[in-house]
Amino acid sequence: MKILAIETSCDETAAAFLEENKGQFTLHSNVVASQIDIHTKTGGIVPEVAAREHVTKIIPVIKKAISNLEEVDVFAITSGPGLITSLIVGVETAKTLAFAFKKPLIAVNHMEGHLYSNWLPKKKGIKSFKKPDIKFPALILIISGGHTEIILMEDEYHYKKIGQTLDDAAGEAFDKVAKILGLGYPGGPIIEKMAKQGNPHKYDLPRPMLNKKNYDFSFSGLKTAVLYLVKDQKNISDKFRRDLAASFQQAAFDVLIGKTLRAAGQYKAKTIMVSGGVAANRTLAIKLKKSVTDINLYVPPLKYCTDNAAMIAMAGWFMTKKRKFTPLNKVRADSNWELE
Ligand code: KG4
Ligand code: ZN
Repeated sequence: MKILAIETSCDETAAAFLEENKGQFTLHSNVVASQIDIHTKTGGIVPEVAAREHVTKIIPVIKKAISNLEEVDVFAITSGPGLITSLIVGVETAKTLAFAFKKPLIAVNHMEGHLYSNWLPKKKGIKSFKKPDIKFPALILIISGGHTEIILMEDEYHYKKIGQTLDDAAGEAFDKVAKILGLGYPGGPIIEKMAKQGNPHKYDLPRPMLNKKNYDFSFSGLKTAVLYLVKDQKNISDKFRRDLAASFQQAAFDVLIGKTLRAAGQYKAKTIMVSGGVAANRTLAIKLKKSVTDINLYVPPLKYCTDNAAMIAMAGWFMTKKRKFTPLNKVRADSNWELE
């Protein structure tokens, strides 16, 4: 089975070509064209600008991912959640390809893609791989720019959401805090870098909802606490920025790790997986490795944490197994598509 996946839900134009033959997977290509340079100038994503970029990049990205479209058995497309203007570009392109080549189309939920990114190879440079032997029940912490969710997975196909953010997503909090500190966009990698040279105990920031008996999150209060500290500060030095970045990151990770571990205890999880852009943070990976001792821990390599189409191809493979094809006239970009 050969799947061509396309992803345009936010600010990366991506395409990947995945083949599976008798349980052996080959990721022939995984192309990502990032728009970060453009959005850095505006300190965040302007949806129309992102959409226009997708329009110019989508054909070159697909061409780079595959030389002969006749080879494709199934097309997979992220149809939500995400920015509607961005999603439409990918969805309409994929519908056109599926129609022209008379092949089935699979509408993939972006979050399901992040979830299955843990099935992709763990080591750099590996293109040929087998599915990992994941022990269930498993918990997946999805932490991206738009979502923060804990998913309980009973087996490879069945899962349910047991917690989510009530306001800002974890990545959004990183982006907003970076903006407050005047550090640029996207905030996550910059905060991580600054935090490495800062003192995480310097500022006593809140750990919202850490002790609540549920698996929901809230990051807007933490962001506001950072904002007040900045407003009260007369001289914003680099040392102040580094210490505040480190204290913020520590507070956010305490909550994310604390709640995930508690959920793991309650649901007797045999595996914990993380995914989404914030999982690209290697300080988080190190902290997790220290905290998770008797449970299998999966953290995808950096390139599969942030948005990519290889994860959409992997999710598309699972859906193809279940024959979850969507008739072309039913495939629509849905910016609020909830995972369930
Ligand atoms: O999954 P993703 O690429 O796109 C969405 O689906 O949202 O996640 C993007 C988010 C951004 O908020 C970005 O700041 C954050 O992931 N991020 C990080 C790091 N790298 C990216 N957050 C913390 N540390 C990082 N190293
Ligand atoms: Zn994402």
